[in-house]
Amino acid sequence: MTMDELKRQAAAQALEHVRDGMKLGLGTGSTAKHFVELLGERVQGGLKVIGVPTSEATRADAVRCGVPLTTLDEIDRLDLTVDGADEIDAALNLIKGGGGALLREKIVAAASDRMIVIADDSKWVATLGRFPLPIEVIPFGLGATQRAIVRAFELCGLSGKMTVRAGPDGHAFVTDGGHWIIDAHLGQITDVPRLAGLLNSIPGVVEHGLFIGLASIAMLAGPAGIRVFERP
Ligand code: A5P
Repeated sequence: MTMDELKRQAAAQALEHVRDGMKLGLGTGSTAKHFVELLGERVQGGLKVIGVPTSEATRADAVRCGVPLTTLDEIDRLDLTVDGADEIDAALNLIKGGGGALLREKIVAAASDRMIVIADDSKWVATLGRFPLPIEVIPFGLGATQRAIVRAFELCGLSGKMTVRAGPDGHAFVTDGGHWIIDAHLGQITDVPRLAGLLNSIPGVVEHGLFIGLASIAMLAGPAGIRVFERP
């Protein structure tokens, strides 16, 4: 089975948690895209749901698939968000943002009663950090922000190369919110809550890709089938 088929399997499993009338957060990335496509098929078959997309890319996919959309200004809470992840640990802490949508993804996940993470099982790790941690920053004062980030890393005993993410045109990648992303190659993040707290306190940091206590269930598709993990 190809990686893409595994991702679609995980997406199909998450779809089984969707009920008529639900308000859904729609994640971003290649796995979440499968979910949006499968959801669209169910909507064409009569399922009544409404979605809040976590990126302009997902908005376009949802429109193409006929999934009705709303915003968090028009509704209060969401019943369920289904999204991918770049890394997942046993506590269901995540690294997200490989697709650059971490800010909207975190806003939507935090507004949801439940979040199901769908992925192929290569995303399951003992310790977060092998995947470069995305940190969304304001372009103004980038040098000062980077120095503050390095200090936060040092306080957590971490170090590693930091790169400003480039887009396809070679210039800085610009998020849907108009910000830039620093990818931090840390290796292993042993104290995830501490690092998250320190990053949150830096003025030029808009958001970071550590998702703590947001995912309720992870569905990981591998060659032997789908493993389901619930947050302890
Ligand atoms: C988007 O910003 C990310 O958080 C994605 O959810 C994450 O990168 C997973 O993407 P894939 O499903 O494409 O691996």
